[in-house]
Amino acid sequence: MAMDLDNMLQMIKDRQWALADIEWDAPGAELIEPDLWAKLKPFMTDLMWIENVGARGFAALAKKAPTPTLKSIYEHFHAEEQKHANAELALMRRWGMLEDDEIPAPNVNVQLIINWLDKHSDEMSLSFLGTVIPMLEVALDGALIKFITDEVKDPIAQEVFKRINNDESRHLAVDFEVMDILGHASMRKLVIETVGGWTNPALIVGTLSYIPLLNKMRDNIVAMGVDEEKLYGAMRRFRSVGERSEFVRRVPMYQFISWQGKKVIDRSSSYHLLADSLVKVTGVIPFRLVHRTPTWSQELTYEPVA
Ligand SMILES: [Fe+2]
Ligand SMILES: [Fe+2]
Repeated sequence: MAMDLDNMLQMIKDRQWALADIEWDAPGAELIEPDLWAKLKPFMTDLMWIENVGARGFAALAKKAPTPTLKSIYEHFHAEEQKHANAELALMRRWGMLEDDEIPAPNVNVQLIINWLDKHSDEMSLSFLGTVIPMLEVALDGALIKFITDEVKDPIAQEVFKRINNDESRHLAVDFEVMDILGHASMRKLVIETVGGWTNPALIVGTLSYIPLLNKMRDNIVAMGVDEEKLYGAMRRFRSVGERSEFVRRVPMYQFISWQGKKVIDRSSSYHLLADSLVKVTGVIPFRLVHRTPTWSQELTYEPVA
């Protein structure tokens, strides 16, 4: 059954929270064991930047939204992703991981996606953004926090993760609803849009950045001591939720992302030769060559603003 997007928008408005609602100085930070502490900083840093990837994606989606309600929903999601990033920054600060106003830099693969989104996301179609963003949310933005929830004993972190998870469940619900809406377009329109999209060289570059990102993040969660099966479970969900709707199944971009997701899950697939080499290749890029702070990241702050 179709979702009532007006109701959803109202719910999103009702469930807003702010960094100021959290007691950042409350005890519990000391519960992080030194072992975990050392691994958490790079992990949280990438996670924080992935929130920004989500934020940038929703900003692009808001511009393409077919109705004012959906536009408003995307604008809220954009703000929520920024809030998640800021909350993660505040947690790192709480845990004594940051010097003064330090905003730590992401890994190369996350940086490449950020650069790409910054340059190209506004030229991408709704059907492209509306399918890729859900996969990023299922596999990364929405999932990474869940993976570490069991590892991090700090009660304040638990509270923050719970709020973020609640936001993410609404993001996912809307993500899949929009894929369903996209699938209602005529097949002719879907095919023209897809073929047209792939003639844009930017999309090839984007794919070459996206492929190693997933493998790199898999390596990172394994380094955190999390079973990679958890990541695969999240990616399987993209497929199983998508398959439920005959309209989602009609979207060619969904079929592509879902096929690629299947490859990522299959460790024995030759796909990993390509993806892992891309991780290696991108890994030797001197970071200063790709590093650029996106214009929108000035909004990053650990301060408990709204
Ligand atoms: Fe998020
Ligand atoms: Fe999200």
